[in-house]
Amino acid sequence: MSKFAGKIAMVTGAGSGIGRAMAEVLARGDATVMCADINEQSAHATATRLEEMGAHADAMGLDVTDSDAVKAGLEHTVATMGGLDVLMNNAGIGSKNTWNDTISVNLSGVFYGLKHACPIMADGGGGAIVNTASIAGLNGLVRPADYQDDPQTLEGVNAYVAAKHGVVGMTRQFAIAFGKSGVRVNAVCPGYIVTPMTARTRAAEGGTQFLEALHPIGRLGEPSEVAAVAAFLASSDASFVTGTAVPVDGGYSAR
Ligand SMILES: NC(=O)c1ccc[n+]([C@@H]2O[C@H](COP(=O)([O-])OP(=O)(O)OC[C@H]3O[C@@H](n4cnc5c(N)ncnc54)[C@H](O)[C@@H]3O)[C@@H](O)[C@H]2O)c1
Repeated sequence: MSKFAGKIAMVTGAGSGIGRAMAEVLARGDATVMCADINEQSAHATATRLEEMGAHADAMGLDVTDSDAVKAGLEHTVATMGGLDVLMNNAGIGSKNTWNDTISVNLSGVFYGLKHACPIMADGGGGAIVNTASIAGLNGLVRPADYQDDPQTLEGVNAYVAAKHGVVGMTRQFAIAFGKSGVRVNAVCPGYIVTPMTARTRAAEGGTQFLEALHPIGRLGEPSEVAAVAAFLASSDASFVTGTAVPVDGGYSAR
């Protein structure tokens, strides 16, 4: 399976969870992969895994909230790997953070990736970007307990939902702006996935059962199940697909 032979890809948040699975599926398709993460050590660990699989990979420490650093990271990828065909704009933080931190990583961070990668790809003849949004980009979130009186949770959840709805909006807007330049922009909208981000909620008493019951399929998703759909959207199989936000959610958003 050489779906990405000769292609150069960058994945943000590649050190863990969904981003690591995205890097792996791209590598299995023979892409050369730049693994970027604010946690440089974990980015290197992913790159090492890809090299052990026989792929070409490298890693960098990158904070997606720093617009100049995102631009420099993309330019470094082009300079050292020879181009940029795919960007998985995936880095994110969960719904238990402050408004400013959440908007900064989950919304501005995705914007900087789009802003700087689209012109690079357009100049190079085209490319594909997949943003990691969420079911929280399509619907509000149902919480395990009432939290109207918990200002911290109220802030974190609203920031997360606002940022992810924003990611879906930017997916559409950049798809329109760069469609004629050959740059396709899509989003995946995962339900609850077994990654470190959901570890605390899953570990709480009754937490896993609560989350499982939200998904008609009756279980949580695996990172590889999100990565597979992202890889499809990034591949030439999806050559007429742009501006979409695809749920990968075991039916969560079907209700
Ligand atoms: N796990 C879920 O249930 C779920 C559901 C829907 C959407 N998502 C989204 O999927 C994406 C990946 O989440 P995950 O579940 O794999 O979480 P994760 O915590 O396992 O991985 C997130 C990665 O992003 C990195 N990161 C955080 N801030 C960063 C920054 N400023 N710059 C660069 N890297 C940064 C972290 O170091 C980490 O390696 C996120 O955008 C998240 O919002 C996750």
